Amino acid sequence: MVADIATETVLKTQKLSVFYGTNLAVKEVSLDIPKNKVVAFIGPSGCGKSTVLRCFNRMNDLIPSARIDGKITFKGSDIYADKVDPIDLRCRIGMVFQKPNPFPKSIYENIAFGARINGFKGDMDELVEISLKKAVIWDETKDKLMQSGLALSGGQQQRLCIARTIAVKPEVILMDEPCAALDPISTLKIEELIHELKQQYTIVIVTHNMQQASRVSDFTAFYNVEATDKEEKVGYLAEYNETKVIFQNPAQETTRDYVSGRFG
Ligand SMILES: Nc1ncnc2c1ncn2[C@@H]1O[C@H](COP(=O)(O)OP(=O)(O)O)[C@@H](O)[C@H]1O
Ligand SMILES: [Mg+2]
Repeated sequence: MVADIATETVLKTQKLSVFYGTNLAVKEVSLDIPKNKVVAFIGPSGCGKSTVLRCFNRMNDLIPSARIDGKITFKGSDIYADKVDPIDLRCRIGMVFQKPNPFPKSIYENIAFGARINGFKGDMDELVEISLKKAVIWDETKDKLMQSGLALSGGQQQRLCIARTIAVKPEVILMDEPCAALDPISTLKIEELIHELKQQYTIVIVTHNMQQASRVSDFTAFYNVEATDKEEKVGYLAEYNETKVIFQNPAQETTRDYVSGRFG
C-alpha cells in the first residue's frame, strides 16, 4: 500500500508474508517507508506489527521457524539477497526494544562496545559524547560515564539504548513499543527525542498508544487480523496513509473504530 509519499522511499515491502512454521502470521504487506519520516504501526495485538518490523533488519532470522515470502528492499536492494550480511544490515537499520536492554557495563561502554565491534577507529570519547547528546541523555550522564548503565532509570536506560543504536550510524531506527515499560514523563521525553531524530533518521515505531501514534508519526499503518477458514488469525495491512488522514478521515470504518477506541 503506497500512501501519497513525495519523498524518497527507504524501505519497501512487496507482498511480504511471514510464516512461523506452517502458520501464516501476516499476509501480503506492501508498503513504502519514506526517508526522514516517522511511520507508526498500529493495530490489535497479534496482527503482525512486530513481525513486519523485525523483517526490516532481519531480526526474524534469529527465530528458526520464521520464513518470509515476498520482497523487502532497502534503498532499492533486496535485503534477503545472498550477499547481504545481516549483522551489517542491523548497523544500518538499528532496533530499540520494548524493554530497555542496556549491556551490564558502564554507560561509556554501552556506546563504545558496539562501535568497537563494528571497527570504529576514531575518537571514542567524542563518539560517546555525540551519541549521548543526540539521544538527549548527555546532561544526565556526563558526570557518571563509568557507572553501570543498569543504575539509570527506565527512561534513561531507553535513551541510552537509543544512543547505543545511534553510535553505529544507522539510517533507519526501528522501535517496538519503546515506551511500553516507561512512565508518562519518560514517554514524553522519548517522543520529543523521536521528533529530533527524524531530522537525520527514518523511524518506524510500533505503538499501542493512539495518542502517541498521532503525536509522533507522519504516516500510520493500521494492521488488522482476519480469521481464515482454518480459524487461524492472519494479520494484514488494512490501511496506510498520512497520520492525520488515518486519525481524522480514514477510508475504512474499522480504522475509524480502532483509532477512536471503539474496536472489538
Ligand atoms: N517467535 C514466534 N513464534 C511463533 N509465532 C509467533 C512468534 N512471534 C509472533 N508469532 C505469532 O505471529 C502473529 C503476529 O505476532 P506479532 O508480530 O508479535 O504481533 P503484534 O506485534 O502485532 O502484537 C501472532 O499470531 C503471534 O502469535
Ligand atoms: Mg508486538
